[in-house]
Amino acid sequence: MSSLHVITGGAGFVATNLARALLERGSRLVLIDNLSRGKRSYVDALGHSNRISFIEADVSHEGELEAALSSVSAEPDAEIWHLCANSDIPAGVNDPTVDLRDTFMVTFALLQLMRRNGWKRLHFSSTSAVYGDHGSAPLTEETFVEPISNYGAMKLASEAAIRAWCESSGGRASVFRFPNVVGVPATHGVLIDFVRKLQADSSVLPVLGDGTQRKAYLHVSDLVEAMLFIRQRDLAGYQLFNIGPRDEGITVREIAELVCQRVAPEARLSFGAEGRGWVGDVPRFRYDVSKLAKLGWSSAQSSLETIRMAIDQIAMQEGVGAP
Ligand SMILES: NC(=O)c1ccc[n+]([C@@H]2O[C@H](COP(=O)([O-])OP(=O)(O)OC[C@H]3O[C@@H](n4cnc5c(N)ncnc54)[C@H](O)[C@@H]3O)[C@@H](O)[C@H]2O)c1
Repeated sequence: MSSLHVITGGAGFVATNLARALLERGSRLVLIDNLSRGKRSYVDALGHSNRISFIEADVSHEGELEAALSSVSAEPDAEIWHLCANSDIPAGVNDPTVDLRDTFMVTFALLQLMRRNGWKRLHFSSTSAVYGDHGSAPLTEETFVEPISNYGAMKLASEAAIRAWCESSGGRASVFRFPNVVGVPATHGVLIDFVRKLQADSSVLPVLGDGTQRKAYLHVSDLVEAMLFIRQRDLAGYQLFNIGPRDEGITVREIAELVCQRVAPEARLSFGAEGRGWVGDVPRFRYDVSKLAKLGWSSAQSSLETIRMAIDQIAMQEGVGAP
């Protein structure tokens, strides 16, 4: 029988891209999501197959999660891709209970179920937000972690709980610290935000922050390739990887200019006064991805190439005509 993969947050942006790649490799999939941000239509777009099933449930609720996955609880070799989280960082700043529930309790409930079911293999989507604000210093996996958002804090707490689960249950976990990931189906993020603002008013693009924020961007297709590459290495114990491009990223001003070129060339840019976009935003981060490069994977695309490709994809998704 083909391998079984359970994906939490399975109706979301990254998860549906991962699901497509796993389906192409012949895997069986169970996608679980409460549809708070993901969409049923993204799952339907994967096509009809008897190798894929979708379950609507709240992963933070132990009983609901256990009932939802009862049909596969007897499969000891199931691999879990834990991707569900609150992806709206400002929402977690305004109300910390959002990240407690949707970013940390989802992890806690899942680990409890993994213990009970004897599931030993976990892949987890963590984030650069666990590092906090280190300015332009390159961030390695050894860099001191000091998150400045509730989201980052709850991801870091999740990493710690996963590390402890590996120790107490003999589990294996790959923890991926994603940078900013772009592509389609876009559910959130700077690109869809800019495209929608320009659709509402093509004369001006209001930008959060002064535009000097500089971050690294990875296309979701590269991200999925990197995660599957790491999985294929079959590493033991707890493994932690930064995944990102090799460059220093691009600025929000450059991104705003590129989106205007594609969507509304006449628009004027209107910047905020602050050096960061919102409370909890890390205005700059620079990844050191040499650990992953030593393992054998590097992104072929720069942040700029990635952003150009994703702007076009998201413009099309939002109904902006071809260039
Ligand atoms: N996209 C990025 O730039 C980025 C960067 C760093 C980390 N990540 C991480 O990658 C993962 C996927 O993010 P994404 O960009 O695809 O976001 P997304 O919002 O598209 O996907 C997350 C999914 O989780 C679901 N979800 C949230 N709370 C849930 C709950 N309690 N029970 C069940 N489902 C729940 C949402 O409905 C959504 O479909 C997340 O863990 C996110 O933190 C993403």
